[in-house]
Parts: sequence; C-alpha cells; structure tokens
Amino acid sequence: NRTKTLEGKTVLITAGPTYEAIDPVRFIGNHSSGKMGFSLAEEAAKRGAKVILISGPSSQSINNKNVDVHKVTSAKEMLAKVFEFYDKIDIGIASAAVADYAPKDVAKEKIKKDDDNLTIELVKNPDILRTMGEKKTHQFLVGFALETQNEEENAKGKLAKKNLDMIVLNSLRDEGAGFKNDTNKIKIFTPTEKKEFDLKSKDDVAKDILDFVEAQLLK
Ligand code: C5P
Repeated sequence: NRTKTLEGKTVLITAGPTYEAIDPVRFIGNHSSGKMGFSLAEEAAKRGAKVILISGPSSQSINNKNVDVHKVTSAKEMLAKVFEFYDKIDIGIASAAVADYAPKDVAKEKIKKDDDNLTIELVKNPDILRTMGEKKTHQFLVGFALETQNEEENAKGKLAKKNLDMIVLNSLRDEGAGFKNDTNKIKIFTPTEKKEFDLKSKDDVAKDILDFVEAQLLK
C-alpha cells in the first residue's frame, strides 16, 4: 500500500511548550502552540506509523487510534516520558519548545507581592533532544531550530552537537513562520544535504518533513 509508507515504524514526537513552576499558581512558559507536532503526529499516523506524542500544555487535540498522547508539564517530565519509550522507537522528532531554564526552587505557597523586587533563580533544564542524541543506537533523530539570526550556521551547529540525522530550520525573520502561526516556512538540513521549502500550512509542512525522513531511511 503506497500510502502506508511508515507501516511498522514507531515514531515519537515531542510537542508544545513546557511550563516550569514558580509557585502553585505561576509558571515560566512560552508561545509554542504545539501545532507543528500535532500535524506531524496526524500525518505519521495516516502513513501507518505507531505514534507516541509527548506534549506539553497545548490546546491542540488529536483523535487517532494510532496516536498515543502523553501529556506532560515540565521539561523534566518530558525527558522522563521520552525515555520510557526511547529504546523501542525508530524515529524521534523533537518539535517541543522546551524551556531552557526552570526555577531552582518551587515555592510551596503562592509568592506574595510584599517586596518591590523579586529575584527567581533559574537553573538549566536538561536538553531532551541532546540526551536522545547521546543515547542514540538505531533511532533516526530529527530536531527543530527556531532562529532569529545566523540561522543556517546555528541549525547546522545543532545538527552536529546534538548528534541528529536531520534538522528543520524555521526563521522568525520569515513572515508566517514559527510558533504563533498556522503556516511555516522551513529549510531541512542533513549532514550532507540542504533543501528549502515554500511557505505552507503546518499540515503540508508535516508532509514535506515526513517525505524527507522517508527518503533518508531508504538511503
Ligand atoms: O538548542 P535549541 O533549544 O535551539 O534546540 C532546539 C531543538 O532541541 C528542538 O528540536 C527542541 O525540541 C530540542 N530541545 C529539547 N530539549 C531542550 C531544548 C531543546 O529537546 N531542553
């Protein structure tokens, strides 16, 4: 069946933002909608893959029996969830916008506004994708790079540093690209190739990404 091009493959996708708790009512987050990851999950499932979608807080939903959705909140929870499945996946796609830093301590009670200044100490979060790259045995790993300057150089640097097979670059300098839009404009890099795509809906971008992954797997 020509359309079931990912039959027999298990694909893990991270999506959405992460929320890092400050106190019981507040968090540090970002504008990621999760759309790109959910589009990828839907398209991979259509192609016959078994999909494990690990998503931070997002209003997106999916109803496909081939997609198992696991909701997480923080980067640390996302990391733990990814590694519950990592050994048995064939393809890993990290589209989540993981918070780079989290508050060192989470206040047990709501922080009061008694002081004029408030300092919250932040500590670096684990880099989930980099950890996946370090532990890679057979998995084909795809990362995203959302850049505002030196885009190509930064994307290629991340491809190498995180031990990835492929990276999808979107530049916030391109109108209609990035996390707040329903559209995206991407470039794909592997260690030896580069391909540029037009501005499209995220559903169509998901098709381009998975076509590219499939072509790489056939090599
Ligand atoms: O280094 P940077 O955050 O730009 O890398 C982006 C890529 O790494 C994305 O694929 C993102 O999902 C992943 N990432 C991650 N864990 C982090 C930071 C980024 O998985 N803590």
